[in-house]
Amino acid sequence: MGKTLRIAQVFRQERALLGKAVSVQGWVRTRRDSKVGVSFVELNDGSCLRNLQVVVATDQPDLALLLPRISNGCSLLVEGTLTASPGREQSVELLATRIHVYGEANPATYPLQKKRHSFEYLRQIGHLRPRTNTLGAVARVRNRLSFAIHQFFQEREFLYIQTPIITASDCEGAGEVFRVTTLKPEDMAGGDGENIYRKDFFGKPTYLTVSGQLQAEIYALALGNVYTFGPTFRSENSNTSRHLAEFWMVEPEMAFCDLDGDLQTAEALIKAMVQVVFSDCAEDLAFFNRFIEPSLAGELQKTLSEPMEVLPYEEAVRILQNSGEAFQFPVSWGSDLQAEHERYLTEKLFKRAVALIHFPRAIKPFYMRVNDDEQTVAAMDILVPRIGEIIGGSQREERLDHLLDQMRLKGIGEEDYRWYIELRQYGSVPHSGFGLGLERLVQYLTGVGNIREAIPFPRTPGHADF
Ligand code: 4AD
Ligand code: MG
Repeated sequence: MGKTLRIAQVFRQERALLGKAVSVQGWVRTRRDSKVGVSFVELNDGSCLRNLQVVVATDQPDLALLLPRISNGCSLLVEGTLTASPGREQSVELLATRIHVYGEANPATYPLQKKRHSFEYLRQIGHLRPRTNTLGAVARVRNRLSFAIHQFFQEREFLYIQTPIITASDCEGAGEVFRVTTLKPEDMAGGDGENIYRKDFFGKPTYLTVSGQLQAEIYALALGNVYTFGPTFRSENSNTSRHLAEFWMVEPEMAFCDLDGDLQTAEALIKAMVQVVFSDCAEDLAFFNRFIEPSLAGELQKTLSEPMEVLPYEEAVRILQNSGEAFQFPVSWGSDLQAEHERYLTEKLFKRAVALIHFPRAIKPFYMRVNDDEQTVAAMDILVPRIGEIIGGSQREERLDHLLDQMRLKGIGEEDYRWYIELRQYGSVPHSGFGLGLERLVQYLTGVGNIREAIPFPRTPGHADF
């Protein structure tokens, strides 16, 4: 018996394997017994969306004996001969010669039925949901994207930098941080504010990172173009379909680069990710297009073929004010755009990705470069249909005096950011970067409506299973 193949390999090599001995292992999706003395077992091993049809001849006593143990969810090793299938549903099937049941799954209690389950239900059985078509397909796309992100940057000579997960700075300044502490509740009792943290593990307050940007800047200002790609944490209490408390972000940081260069890299990255899903995840994409989001393939095709719309914030505000739409939140210069405004721009007006640039400085973090108008910063938010913001980035303030002004205005203590200031005192250069949320990218490319389906183990307010 040859070595065991993944089912995706069997399909890829099916012509060469016809008539040959093949063995596979996986989990049963369904079993169907026909009257003519055969049972059909649909086997899936997660390597691809398609199941391999296993044909079990019930006139073989040793196989027939096993059949009662074979039901949805049980795990099998199947050895057999690959043959052309007379059925219309599949090109090949495996005529079983030997079956080993690794583990049974009691049909009376197995939580996954053949019918379609709601995503809400599947979230309650997070340990079994990767066995469904949709979550399996999402996992494969997410895997391919993660690798493609590295490929994209490595091919462009960006260095991969691992930035810390435990930090002492709050990059976005939004205060939505998780504290990291080894202090016990009794240590905290009667504590005198921040002083209590002198007794803590690091001798000062520390947090889970909200972004690796500031540390990536350190390396960009020594090595040129770098990127960091890892988990980030935000305690924002927003129970929406686009927010997680733990999510993955890829953050390139480019030295000698202005906002235009930043926009170009971001657009190239998005297009490369769409391209890789078209070329390497075609079967899963077709599934998403059929069962999850019917506009998906057409929309992604447009993303590939059309240039991204670039629009100054000021102009976007004007467009929204004159749109004649009845928005729930009024739009005025100086306010953050709401989801309804983003949707109008991407879904109704432009019908594709839109990059908004040059936001009021008051609504953006301290590190963004102040424009000559002194009112706006060289920021960019890239919005896409269905999701809204998928990328946030900016040119960084590289001028010492402007940076100090910004920090004063935002109430950021110079002592805590001495190192960041020094980077502007010694060999400062124009530099830019952005952050792309992996889960929002996965949502965009698979059509899953809720971000909880775009990550294996979602963390949201009140939920941290496993
Ligand atoms: O716009 P944000 O907050 O930008 C930064 O953190 C910058 N420091 C990035 C940089 O310039 N290096 O976040 C970037 C992206 C968002 O556009 C979004 O895709 C994703 O991160 N994101 C989230 N994804 C899921 N859940 C959340 N709570 C998210 N917050 C941000
Ligand atoms: Mg943002």
